[in-house]
Amino acid sequence: MALLEARKLYARYGESDVLHGIDLEVAQGSIVALLGANGSGKTTTLRALTGGVRTSGNVLFDDREIAGLPPEAVARLGIAHVPEGRGTLGSFTVRENLSMGAYTIKDGKRSKARYEKLVGYFPWLVDRREQPAGLLSGGEQQMLAIARALMMEPRVILLDEPSLGLAPIIVKRIFEILRTINREDGVTIVIAEQDAAAALALADTAYVLEVGRVAISGPSADLAGNEQLRKSYLGY
Ligand SMILES: Nc1ncnc2c1ncn2[C@@H]1O[C@H](COP(=O)(O)OP(=O)(O)OP(=O)(O)O)[C@@H](O)[C@H]1O
Ligand SMILES: [Mg+2]
Repeated sequence: MALLEARKLYARYGESDVLHGIDLEVAQGSIVALLGANGSGKTTTLRALTGGVRTSGNVLFDDREIAGLPPEAVARLGIAHVPEGRGTLGSFTVRENLSMGAYTIKDGKRSKARYEKLVGYFPWLVDRREQPAGLLSGGEQQMLAIARALMMEPRVILLDEPSLGLAPIIVKRIFEILRTINREDGVTIVIAEQDAAAALALADTAYVLEVGRVAISGPSADLAGNEQLRKSYLGY
């Protein structure tokens, strides 16, 4: 069953249409990759799913219409969005960033338990708790952004280019953690990525966007395994 679904989703900035009727299905418990060249609409699709841009069409979460809800309301339903550029607040400490992530959880015990769980994935958070997030390395900031989003116990997490600007070995580590979060905690993941090879290896299903439309979609293994498709749609 689809946990999150877009039907004929359009989005516009000012007067210009950027998404032209996207259909997208994210199965409960799956990892979905959104691929495509610069400017193809990956970021806008994530924004359209989370109330960050003007849309028309349908967005269904758990079969409930959520199109048009403001971002805070979408977050409260259990949809976390880690935006492009990570969205961590550099002048706030690691601890403050994490507690901002937990704003939808009022129960102190629950957010403490959540923190303990995340420390299992990111043990370095403990020693860096009181440091401003701005002093962390790029990879650590990306991990903090993911940890912050997970503090709200989301059912689905949307990630916008988590690999951006990071060394391959760090990307590998982050993707391994994402896989664990998906498999063990059952968090559904939607990941927009330039690094198509890495994203296809992680995801169950992939959508390739071209100028605001879905050009091709299907099981990631089929896309990764078909050289002709890969060359024409993903350029590798
Ligand atoms: N705030 C904005 N105002 C006007 N146009 C925008 C805005 N943000 C994005 N666009 C345009 O919308 C289109 C899709 O952009 P989007 O950022 O969704 O692409 P993307 O696939 O995420 O690209 P990238 O790989 O570079 O991150 C582009 O043509 C872009 O110029
Ligand atoms: Mg983008």
